[in-house]
Amino acid sequence: MLDINAIRAHFPVLNKNPKLSYLDSAASSLKPQEVIDSVTSYYENLGVNVHRGVYDLSYQATDLYEGARAKIQHFLNAKREEEIVFTRGASASLNLVAMSYGMKYINKGDEVITSELEHHSSHMPWFNVCKVKGATLKYVPLNEEGRITVENFKKVLTDKTKLVALTYVSNVMGYITPIKEIIKICHERGIIVSVDGAQAVPHMKIDVQELDCDFLSFSGHKMCGPTGIGVLYGKYKLLDSMDPIEFGGDMADEVYKDSQTYKAVPHKFETGTPIIAGVIGLGRAVEFLDEIGLDNVAKHENMLAQEAKRRLMELEDVEVYNPTAETGVVAFNIKGVHPHDAASIYDKNGVCIRAGHHCAQLITRWLNQISTTRASFYMYNTMEDVDNLVNSVKEARDFFKQF
Ligand code: ALA
Repeated sequence: MLDINAIRAHFPVLNKNPKLSYLDSAASSLKPQEVIDSVTSYYENLGVNVHRGVYDLSYQATDLYEGARAKIQHFLNAKREEEIVFTRGASASLNLVAMSYGMKYINKGDEVITSELEHHSSHMPWFNVCKVKGATLKYVPLNEEGRITVENFKKVLTDKTKLVALTYVSNVMGYITPIKEIIKICHERGIIVSVDGAQAVPHMKIDVQELDCDFLSFSGHKMCGPTGIGVLYGKYKLLDSMDPIEFGGDMADEVYKDSQTYKAVPHKFETGTPIIAGVIGLGRAVEFLDEIGLDNVAKHENMLAQEAKRRLMELEDVEVYNPTAETGVVAFNIKGVHPHDAASIYDKNGVCIRAGHHCAQLITRWLNQISTTRASFYMYNTMEDVDNLVNSVKEARDFFKQF
């Protein structure tokens, strides 16, 4: 069991706004003091570049930067530190896989499998690769609940399938994809699997060796880390076989007028001065998550989301789209009320939620909606947040029903 009051004490935004019901952690989590301090400390005590300076401050900054890579390797149980590439976020990581691996290895006539549950950053890069290379993009048919199932996945698998790009946890529906089974099926056929872990890594303990994914992309800011930093985990052999997509500072090895070579993985993908403070902050964030225990976090947020859904489903004129989801995401609407209109009442009551298509238009269309409301729970949320959400939904429904 988590001591929620003790956890909340780590988050300055909650200390300053004790009545706030922050239910938008799937968009960005709040940041604990430890992470803020690690970023501030870098700027206050070092503030210099890494890998380049031949002086003590730069060596210290390099140790912190590369030390954070080791922390993330440990957090994911990756085989090698070099398998951790720092990027600007999950979107940049997913694009790196598509632009580097996809553009090199996907050819005319090949098939790539994705799904309608994807965030735009997961399927759009593959739409582009397939268009440019003359390959076919196929979508796993979702089941009646809107889930990816192994059975339905097999329906689109053929001997032309070269790569599978799927989300681990949907940012709209909160469903967990049976990704481990899918990866096993793919590897029996030599198919590469790129996993969008943006909504999974912050909420569940992932062991990349056990999962056996080829690529895993995620962002720091959804897991108590700073904004502007993300990770691409990739198996060393795959990363090593890929070409950089950005060229310039820090990634070059030997440069002549008629030839150029690059540093080894991961540095060949980290062009220019890296996101030093972000990396250091993310290193502290994964330690924080391990201290709290992600298994406890998952249980807690799921318990709150189940209670919120149970109570929302009792309300007349409220539709819940993901009653069986097993994570902290609640997807709903008030019938006949645009989520942005209802959001003004939520905001007045200090309830922070997200409304819109959540950068996932395919699943919003699948639901026959133009927009949905999403409440997403994390380690610091309480049953009072559930009360505040449900009461605000009732208030919004009653207010807009008058018109
Ligand atoms: N991708 C983030 C979300 O789902 C921003 O809200």
